[in-house]
Amino acid sequence: MTIRALHVASELYPLLKTGGLADVAGALPPALIERGADVRVLLPGFPAVAAGLTDVRPVAQLGRRFDAPGVTLEQGTLPSNGLIVYMIRAGTLYDRPGNPYLNEEHVPYGDNAQRFALLGWVAAQLAQHLDPAWAPQIIHAHDWHAGLAPAYLKAAERQHGRPLARSVFTVHNLAYQGVFPAHQFGQLALPDDFFSMRGIEFYGQLSFLKAGLYYSDRITTVSPTYAREIQTLAQGGGLDGLLRHRSHDLSGILNGVDYTVWNPASDALIANHYSAAKLGGKSACKEALQKRFGLAQKSDALLFGVVSRLTEQKGLDLLLEMVPEIVKRGGQLIVFGTGDPALENGLTRVAQAHPDSVAVELGFDETLAHMIVAGSDVIAVPSRFEPCGLTQLYALAYGSLPLVHCVGGLADTVVDASLENLADDLATGFVFDRFEPQGLGAAIRRAFALYGRHTEWKAAQRRAMQQDFGWGASAERYLALYRELA
Ligand code: ADP
Ligand code: GLC
Repeated sequence: MTIRALHVASELYPLLKTGGLADVAGALPPALIERGADVRVLLPGFPAVAAGLTDVRPVAQLGRRFDAPGVTLEQGTLPSNGLIVYMIRAGTLYDRPGNPYLNEEHVPYGDNAQRFALLGWVAAQLAQHLDPAWAPQIIHAHDWHAGLAPAYLKAAERQHGRPLARSVFTVHNLAYQGVFPAHQFGQLALPDDFFSMRGIEFYGQLSFLKAGLYYSDRITTVSPTYAREIQTLAQGGGLDGLLRHRSHDLSGILNGVDYTVWNPASDALIANHYSAAKLGGKSACKEALQKRFGLAQKSDALLFGVVSRLTEQKGLDLLLEMVPEIVKRGGQLIVFGTGDPALENGLTRVAQAHPDSVAVELGFDETLAHMIVAGSDVIAVPSRFEPCGLTQLYALAYGSLPLVHCVGGLADTVVDASLENLADDLATGFVFDRFEPQGLGAAIRRAFALYGRHTEWKAAQRRAMQQDFGWGASAERYLALYRELA
């Protein structure tokens, strides 16, 4: 039996991306389709989404919803792979330039509750045959933006007196909870009793994330370690009680890599192609990278790269403290990303102090991201917490040994170059336990030490590149979950 599943998300690569969620939303549906499922995606009609779809046609007129007049549901096709995407058009609710969540001052839009309630509401309408030609059996909602989808579905089922579809809610990041003032509950058109501790109420406010966790039939998150971490008081973001209560419905399924996008043997965005068998070409990527960022052209300087959102989560303040250590040992560092102004300034100042060894550029650019992943010797991901992390997986594929904090998906995917792991041919990177300068410093020293041992470094690179973090196994696990539910 073919299972029909609707993925509900706020971003999707290559249409619109601010982080790893877009990579997952872009790669998981095709991986499920490849394995026989009938999968479609629902997105808000942000300008980049509307501009990137082809064969767009109307599916349904929805009138005035959540204060937006003339809401329509349209259907289009993603040109790169034929994926069918439903898109909600709701005038200025979505049709705004720039970041999908924040205004020009980097402040969340005042009407985000309505904007993302509409997304969840339309998902539940699709389960009620809003599109006469296709209705999902599974609604798979991602992160708080889609958190109300399971709630609207439960409300509709109560009204119809029968089940309409089953739901899966995937937590990509528990730190973003979609919390709004309680007085906005009235705008959501949910049954009154949903505003309750057993519902979407969260310490006197509304939480879209909690709605997803509470009303979905199954919860997944993006790595096994993170699935355990979020059930603890320390890392549960106030939701650990609910998560422990639902622990039988909660599982961790690791994200995968789309190797059609991230493969050094075919990547059109990098200076030179290379592979585990032919590693030689990587040095041209390093050379091009040093040149692009104005660093000293030294082939033997250990080059650390960072491609990241610049937020508290990513732990780059700790890396900043270690810059003198890297420079003192003759290493180099490139940081590329955007985010917190304080972190942006701190990084920029360090780069000014070490122009030959440290370069910092603020921005978001797919080509530069690929160039850095390919040209660096080490990709640093010292995150305080990391639900899965994709950058370290891309780094492995490119033989750029990841240096990571032992948390979440980082702990599940990188094996430290300890003596015993080297001896057993297991090492693929550098892992530190405690989030403090000594821990990170020791991992940095391990990287320098291994870099000094040419043969062992090459062996670790090959091993990293041979790891299979493709979507195959994870897509099978999601499919098994769908089958169980349907
Ligand atoms: P998160 O989703 O928390 O940001 P992930 O590691 O899961 O972390 O995914 C980050 C994704 O965003 C990767 O695809 C990475 O290449 C990309 N990315 C992060 N910062 C930038 C940037 N400044 N420019 C381009 N891509 C970026
Ligand atoms: C979130 C997490 C990241 C994860 C990504 C995709 O943004 O921060 O760890 O890889 O979602 O699941």
